Amino acid sequence: MINGKKIIFSGIQPSGNLTIGNYAGSLKNWVSLQNEYKSLFCIVDMHSITVRQNPAELRRRTYEVFALYLACGINPDVSTIFVQSHVPAHAELAWVLDCYTMFGELSRMTQFKDKSEKNSQNINAGLFTYPVLMAADILLYQADLVPVGEDQKQHLEITRDIAGRFNGIYSETFTVPEPFISKLGGKIMSLSEPDKKMSKSDMGDGSVRILDDRDTIIRKFRRAVTDSGSEIKVEEGKDGINNLIMIYSTFSGKTKDEIEKEFEGRGYGEFKMAVGECVADALEPIKAKFNTYISDKTQLDKLMSSGADQAAYLARKTISKVYRKIGFVQKP
Ligand code: TRP
Repeated sequence: MINGKKIIFSGIQPSGNLTIGNYAGSLKNWVSLQNEYKSLFCIVDMHSITVRQNPAELRRRTYEVFALYLACGINPDVSTIFVQSHVPAHAELAWVLDCYTMFGELSRMTQFKDKSEKNSQNINAGLFTYPVLMAADILLYQADLVPVGEDQKQHLEITRDIAGRFNGIYSETFTVPEPFISKLGGKIMSLSEPDKKMSKSDMGDGSVRILDDRDTIIRKFRRAVTDSGSEIKVEEGKDGINNLIMIYSTFSGKTKDEIEKEFEGRGYGEFKMAVGECVADALEPIKAKFNTYISDKTQLDKLMSSGADQAAYLARKTISKVYRKIGFVQKP
């Protein structure tokens, strides 16, 4: 708790161009949570180097994600927005927690297994200990709640296990966090492979980026894979159309029923056009704000620096407590 408010922490990797999936699944929800909770929103650049990154691109994307957080409505006067590598305590706590995490439990992480398959040339130790760094992110700030998607639930589970284990040995040190899976805006799937999550590292037409221009957005929706049939109706197994209805609902605020009624007797082609236009319209003001933020580097740097200072102040308290409990000598 900070000033009587529960603490939330979440983060996104700057390892691709953010998609409407990131917007609907994370950013939009964060904005609606920020006044009720003491919120920390991080750009987790240290996590992204578990997969090889181009240095110039990583740098550019880190700024872009920062500006996008702002453009989507995260208010730096209310929330703490910062870059993970600017707060050394993340790496410090991660090392300590590494020593309280078992090889066996990390071996069971499904994301590790998936990523090792995809990066068989570079199964590095960081990929393996990724969940420990994530646990450090969360536990450093004594977060009560962590808004994450379904795919991160297992990482939150291990975070809770690590916190519980440490607390059990040394007495209450960390808040044991709860996952906060939003009921709003479910998971957005790829437009070209609607049985897979829309991914920010997918370069094809399946991923719609927040910063795509209007024509690109509409073209991607026009090409969206739909199922056999022609009705605009949510139906088990019809991943393509279900996904488009979900997206339309998220961006228009209309319910499933309203959408089904609106498009009764109309074809897929017409519906895809409508979804594309609706998404493009909704993203217009975000893109405009993004352009303003990204072109003022001085202002961005100021905000970045201040966010890191706020985070570092909180993180330092936890690190001191942890070092004291495990028996490290305080620097005289
Ligand atoms: N692993 C998360 C993802 O890929 C990103 C992340 C890193 C995160 N640290 C976090 C999310 C802490 C929530 C809290 O989506």
